[in-house]
Amino acid sequence: MMEADHEDGSYDRNKELKLFDETKAGVKGLVDAGLTKLPKIFVHDNHKVNDSSSSSSSSATNVSIPVIDLGSLHEEGNSRHEIVQKVKDAGEKWGFFQVVNHKIPQSILDEMLDGVRKFHEQDAEVKKEFYSRDITKRVFYNTNFNFYTTSEVNWRDTLYCLLAPGPLDPHQLPSICRDVIIEYLDHIKKLALTLLELLSEALGLEGNYLKDIDCGEGIFMVGNYYPPCPEPELTWGLSAHTDMGFVTILLQDQVGGLQVFHENQWFDITPFPGAFIINLGDMMQLITNDKFMSAKHRVVAQKVGPRVSVSCSLRQHVQDECLRMYGPIKELVTKENPPIYKEMKMPDLVKLVYTTKLDYDISSPLKHFRL
Ligand code: OGA
Ligand code: NI
Repeated sequence: MMEADHEDGSYDRNKELKLFDETKAGVKGLVDAGLTKLPKIFVHDNHKVNDSSSSSSSSATNVSIPVIDLGSLHEEGNSRHEIVQKVKDAGEKWGFFQVVNHKIPQSILDEMLDGVRKFHEQDAEVKKEFYSRDITKRVFYNTNFNFYTTSEVNWRDTLYCLLAPGPLDPHQLPSICRDVIIEYLDHIKKLALTLLELLSEALGLEGNYLKDIDCGEGIFMVGNYYPPCPEPELTWGLSAHTDMGFVTILLQDQVGGLQVFHENQWFDITPFPGAFIINLGDMMQLITNDKFMSAKHRVVAQKVGPRVSVSCSLRQHVQDECLRMYGPIKELVTKENPPIYKEMKMPDLVKLVYTTKLDYDISSPLKHFRL
């Protein structure tokens, strides 16, 4: 494997990508083989050593993303109003917050993380059957969805499950984590509706507004597995990016490594037991006409691992399943605050991100939808 280096020292990157892809064993396969040096395809041109903005400052300044307690949501008094106010602040300033007391039992969170870990650690031959780059499939796994289009291959394998809308045949889900995914989905759907209500109210709209325009219709689940990396300073677990959907509900284990870009600095999102990280995506920024922001985030590669995370994005990406057009919400635009974006269909954004080489340090995919 990995013999695409020519005798004259030149290197056939495409060939090396293909050789790796064809193993269908992922980054996990490299680690299992006892690799101690990173293959060239994983070595980033502008790796961390040269990245002056990379050192996180949260430990120095003790700033962390807002933590919102949902426990008192249905109590009498002002608590709902206060929660909505916090969601508004977080949406405008960070695009990120954490929620606690969300009522989803800790055992389900633990089992979900464990299920994803088991998927990636199961027998390599069984796992291979799921390896694919056919994004029309509802369930598959691979190393980096943008493997062939990006110049930055990341130290991460991912299981993808399109859970909604449309018919979910449970038998398509990997048997090793099938039951827990179905149970988790049930809880996530409820949390998603609560979040859409709070976000609607935070925008000054009717509580049902975002639900009624189908923001909660699509649920795309991603189970990330970041194996321990022998040379973490040369690569990323997940390069800086924004999420595409309306809202992402992210569950991370206790290893850490996730960072968010805020006011020109990177901040660690330190694991908080039992919490979900909620971040707003590009579609939310578009429909709110930039009132809410889709914040850039990334995951550093680390010697320790594996790290596991599960993200559920409210996003619809199957071309014929979502014909609805989205643009800035009429109630949110005025003469003084005219629409910034044109009407578009969500799969157009997904297609753009999947097929274009994007550099989030320079711009956002949303610029393609500006008026
Ligand atoms: C993502 C993501 C972060 C993480 O899947 O889009 O940002 O902690 N994941 O794995
Ligand atoms: Ni993300």
